[in-house]
Amino acid sequence: MQSLQNLFPEIKKGSRRTVFIFDNIVIKVPRLKNWVAFIAGIRETLEERYWWCTESGVSDTWDTVFLARILWADRFGIILVAERCDPVIDSTKFEYDLANLIVEHGVQSYNFYADRKEANFGYTKDGRLVFIDYGYFGGTMDCYLGCKNIKRK
Ligand SMILES: Nc1ncnc2c1ncn2[C@@H]1O[C@H](COP(=O)(O)OP(=O)(O)O)[C@@H](O)[C@H]1O
Ligand SMILES: [Mg+2]
Repeated sequence: MQSLQNLFPEIKKGSRRTVFIFDNIVIKVPRLKNWVAFIAGIRETLEERYWWCTESGVSDTWDTVFLARILWADRFGIILVAERCDPVIDSTKFEYDLANLIVEHGVQSYNFYADRKEANFGYTKDGRLVFIDYGYFGGTMDCYLGCKNIKRK
């Protein structure tokens, strides 16, 4: 039987996106609170799509194991569907897992840790710490061009 959460998603608001949280997926849309938030939301969603995108020009060695999986996203930055992750609840474990993530994946480049608050991370169903908000990494302008598809290799 479907749970009630499938029918009535929890709604969370970031500063740039409104996020509808279902059992297994989340749907992100730009916030309508004001024009600038809306534009910033589009930009961040496009950037997330870019980081996830096979054809983004990101090198073959790019490892997405520390990013929440994107299942679908349009090229205009209006709707993005991602895997639903569990929130960070244990700060000590979070700091430990984040340190490990940095050591293992060496993601010191770009702006990855500019907004490294707990609300921007989550745990996947198999217990990995991942970025759930990666729209602020500071990619190249390629994200504005729109990638042809978002399938990973
Ligand atoms: N993949 C996800 N799984 C579970 N919750 C999420 C996910 N993505 C976002 N959220 C929730 O929505 C909130 C806002 O999303 P976020 O991507 O950080 O938007 P913003 O860019 O506006 O900060 C997050 O702090 C988190 O609570
Ligand atoms: Mg955020």
